[in-house]
Amino acid sequence: MFILMKTLHLFGLMLGAGGGLGSMFLSIQAKRAEGPPSPALVALRKNFSLAALVGVLLLWATGLWLWLVDYNGALLGIAFWLKILAAVLILGILVAVRVAMARTPVGNPPPAWIQRLGPAAGVLSYIAVALAVIVFA
Ligand code: HEM
Repeated sequence: MFILMKTLHLFGLMLGAGGGLGSMFLSIQAKRAEGPPSPALVALRKNFSLAALVGVLLLWATGLWLWLVDYNGALLGIAFWLKILAAVLILGILVAVRVAMARTPVGNPPPAWIQRLGPAAGVLSYIAVALAVIVFA
């Protein structure tokens, strides 16, 4: 079971990274394009942000399982709690982005703060991976 859960944890990482990078490249293209983004770009933006959210939810579900079952909820030190803090912030940002995008009328650009928080979630995910390696390597 540990191997299955750890594999799914890393699948979550891949899905989250794919969704995050896709969103970043898409917003770069949308900024370069003249006028409002095409319907295809708008649809892709939703797909990528959903992939990122599903990936992070998978990280949370499998991460909690690994921690509770394999580590018996042990206090694993400061680097582990910093990783959890990063994971909380990433999840909060992705949920806020999804809510803001759902409220944005079709054809309008997403609110400006999304363009600042999106990269912050990316940086936090690199930090979370580095902390995970420090704790568990
Ligand atoms: C953004 C969120 C997260 C990222 C990027 C992430 C990343 C990683 C990575 C890369 C590893 C492998 C480390 C290694 O084997 O050297 C790992 C392992 C682990 N993660 Fe996460 N993780 C996240 C969220 C969580 C959460 C929320 C929890 C628990 C509440 C968690 C618990 C664990 C545990 C227990 C392991 C160790 C598995 C083992 O013994 O090999 N993770 N994580």
